[in-house]
Amino acid sequence: MTAATPAVRLRRLRKSSAMRALFKETTLTPGRLVQPYFIVPGERVKKEAKPGLGLWQVSADMLVDEARPLVKGGVGGLMLFGVPDRKDDSGAALSEQLEPLLRAVDRIKSAEPDVPIFADVCLCSYTTHGHCGLVKDGRIENDASVAVLAKMALAQAKAGVDFVSPSDMMDGRVAAIRRTLDEAGAFDTGVLSYAVKMASAFYGPFRAAADSAPSFGDRTTYQMPATNRREALRELALDEAEGADALLVKPALTNLDLIRDARERSDLPLFAYQVSGEYAMLRAAAEKGLMDFDRAMLETLSSIQRAGADVIVSYYARDWLLK
Ligand code: PBG
Repeated sequence: MTAATPAVRLRRLRKSSAMRALFKETTLTPGRLVQPYFIVPGERVKKEAKPGLGLWQVSADMLVDEARPLVKGGVGGLMLFGVPDRKDDSGAALSEQLEPLLRAVDRIKSAEPDVPIFADVCLCSYTTHGHCGLVKDGRIENDASVAVLAKMALAQAKAGVDFVSPSDMMDGRVAAIRRTLDEAGAFDTGVLSYAVKMASAFYGPFRAAADSAPSFGDRTTYQMPATNRREALRELALDEAEGADALLVKPALTNLDLIRDARERSDLPLFAYQVSGEYAMLRAAAEKGLMDFDRAMLETLSSIQRAGADVIVSYYARDWLLK
């Protein structure tokens, strides 16, 4: 053996596709992905909010048709966002605003009872100002917002949602939602908490699909600064203590370290959300001929899984299953 001969040769593990398959450490399947849909009022609506960016707006009557191939292909679940056309700043119009979403839940649960259904709990699509809570004198009010969010969660639970998913980032909303659900006997409805949600530039395409861009200011008084790790750990611990059944970190690719932190510090199921801007970025690069879209997607999704996410909310679930 010459000095130049390596004692350890990792290439032995990679020498054929069978070897590579045998030693694969992370296996991504569609069953680990949750597909988002934007539920809009009306009938026979099925369109992409922004062509090519995977943001599908469907009316309640179209969801079953649209999602059936995904369900048959074994998608992990569906994440539903309500996009009411009538906005209201007090929470008083909630039952009317939620009607299309609740009808969509009812339809999909009747047709496909087994597919896990998640519903977003937040006010940004429901208000004229587009903030995630109620606004008074230009400020986002925490506790009054939490009361409305808990009502929204209860309505979704009654409609048959499996997990209500608060994405608003108000303090104390997981505990309040859990209490409201339990008092109403909705013991089997879980809470998937957006525990770490950064004030991010990567939500741009989503806001067009959800009609939820803030009309003044930004979300920095409630969403987290992307610079802060310790604060993220506190958010995770707090939501677990408040009774969350599962935790979520978003965006995914910019927070792989926090996904790993969450995995190591909590035994709760962990979700990561590969957000609209992450998807759009790869689509745009692929359209410029700079990379292969599917390979880039699968690489990022596998990295998010390797970082520790059990489940990934991704607009790519649909692309994968309809291929
Ligand atoms: C807000 C919400 C947002 C996303 C999920 N829930 C946007 C925001 O905070 O402005 C972003 C998801 C995405 O970009 O795909 N309720």
